[in-house]
Amino acid sequence: MDRPLFLNGFMATGKSTVGRLAAARLGVPFVDLDAAVEARAGCRVAEIFATKGESGFRQLEREELGRWLDTREPAVVALGGGALLAREPRLAALRRGYVVTLEATPATVLARNGGKAARPLLAVPNPDRQVAELLAQRRASYAEAHARLQTDERSPQAIAEEVVEVVRRRPIAVAAGESSYSVEVGVGLCAARLGALARGASRVLLVTDSNVGPLHAATAIAALERAQLTADVVRLDAGEEHKTLAAPQRIWEAALAQGVDRSGRMVALGGGVVTDITGFAAASWMRGIGWVGVPTTLLAMVDASVGGKTGVDLGPAKNAVGAFWQPRGVLCDISLLATEPDRGFVSALAEVVKTALIGDPELFLLLEKDPAAVLRRDPSVVADVVSRCIQVKADVVSRDERESGLRATLNLGHTVGHALEAQAGYSRLTHGEAISLGLVAACRLGERIGRTPPELSERVVRLLRTLGLPVELAKEPLADAARLIGHDKKRAGKSIRFVVARALGDVTTVDLPLAEVRELTTALR
Ligand SMILES: NC(=O)c1ccc[n+]([C@@H]2O[C@H](COP(=O)([O-])OP(=O)(O)OC[C@H]3O[C@@H](n4cnc5c(N)ncnc54)[C@H](O)[C@@H]3O)[C@@H](O)[C@H]2O)c1
Ligand SMILES: [Zn+2]
Repeated sequence: MDRPLFLNGFMATGKSTVGRLAAARLGVPFVDLDAAVEARAGCRVAEIFATKGESGFRQLEREELGRWLDTREPAVVALGGGALLAREPRLAALRRGYVVTLEATPATVLARNGGKAARPLLAVPNPDRQVAELLAQRRASYAEAHARLQTDERSPQAIAEEVVEVVRRRPIAVAAGESSYSVEVGVGLCAARLGALARGASRVLLVTDSNVGPLHAATAIAALERAQLTADVVRLDAGEEHKTLAAPQRIWEAALAQGVDRSGRMVALGGGVVTDITGFAAASWMRGIGWVGVPTTLLAMVDASVGGKTGVDLGPAKNAVGAFWQPRGVLCDISLLATEPDRGFVSALAEVVKTALIGDPELFLLLEKDPAAVLRRDPSVVADVVSRCIQVKADVVSRDERESGLRATLNLGHTVGHALEAQAGYSRLTHGEAISLGLVAACRLGERIGRTPPELSERVVRLLRTLGLPVELAKEPLADAARLIGHDKKRAGKSIRFVVARALGDVTTVDLPLAEVRELTTALR
């Protein structure tokens, strides 16, 4: 265990009992946060409330929690039901530890409280209503977790066992209120975990494409069968040119034919095209059903698996029709990458370099140190790379789910990159290749406006080149591409929000007049 585990949830969900058992199984200390606060204050929680008020208590609680967030020492920490109600500490706990929420129905909560002296929160004329209301108020915050476990009519031992399993999977949480989910990264996950993620579904539609289906659908189907699920398979034509409305229509027609209802589930097995299409089909079938992502390309793992963006193209307009619709879970099975064509794999490394620049200096160093291990797709190295990228994107997206300020930093390299991609008619360059050139352009442009140190630019160029990505701006039709900048939907008025890198892991946005960006781009070498 590499970090603390926080057990979150409402009163009487068994956090302390389960926490003790889980700590013993994991061989780490158990901590009851309320008890730690009491020890520190030298009096009982009720007294702290009486003398310092709830805000005084929360302050002490935050400090005590902060210790575990700072040191990241392995331990099982049972939290008070209100400890992670504020979003900042909750996001910190999700980033620095594991958070498992224990859930119970209002009836169970009341029954478990029955014998004991009533808790202060329940000392009201109508405790049933009080519990139901508090649970409803807190639902979204409790949902932001690595896992949520039902505790009704289950033994503490069984729940503790499940908690331990969650930790062993080392999931990455994408916090999105009640739509939160986890991404798992590892070798062989499609076979090992798909059944569990689809369990409970009345029917499963497995959506894949004509390249991936013959290679990997059998693994997914077998995994579902082991969970007593029969999947109906929809095999789409592979390629971006088929990312049109006709694709979700085929899925909806299959769903209709197979009687997929609101409790049915879709599984997307493929690259970003398949996951975008399937997510969109799921978002609109019966006004939204659950779906699971099993990305099979590096790009779909590091980029498309976080953020909940789904959709299809409309003629030349990329991703013009779509919806934000989070999956129930994502499995990044590194073994599926063994068959990905080289050009796509290498192209995705441009997004990896971008992500490292935005938020993970260690990842940048790791790529610099052993690019060969990445290029030969060493499974443990690739798993580390994928996990790190997902963590960075999950952090950004959790703080900014609907794309405003912070999320804009993810566009590093994309202003000029998109323009080059469009200029080349989406055929000469892949998206990743265009982004590689776009990253070089962003660095050079950042230098011109005095934000990016030249040494940083050199490192970025060297790394991209070593990874086999294009970096020669002089060979690109920059003047033609510059005219296309600002033609996309992200244009705000006459100025462009340009993302620049100041150091490894430190990027910022600057608003520049469109004309200036075009001029600077044209002059790049
Ligand atoms: N939703 C998001 O946030 C997001 C983020 C980035 C990209 N995207 C979308 O992703 C798409 C690009 O994704 P992509 O590069 O994965 O393209 P893709 O899905 O077209 O896959 C590339 C090619 O590789 C094949 N393939 C996929 N996995 C394979 C495997 N394991 N073995 C053999 N062949 C395999 C596919 O059939 C296809 O021919 C774009 O449409 C883009 O808009 C979405
Ligand atoms: Zn991109």
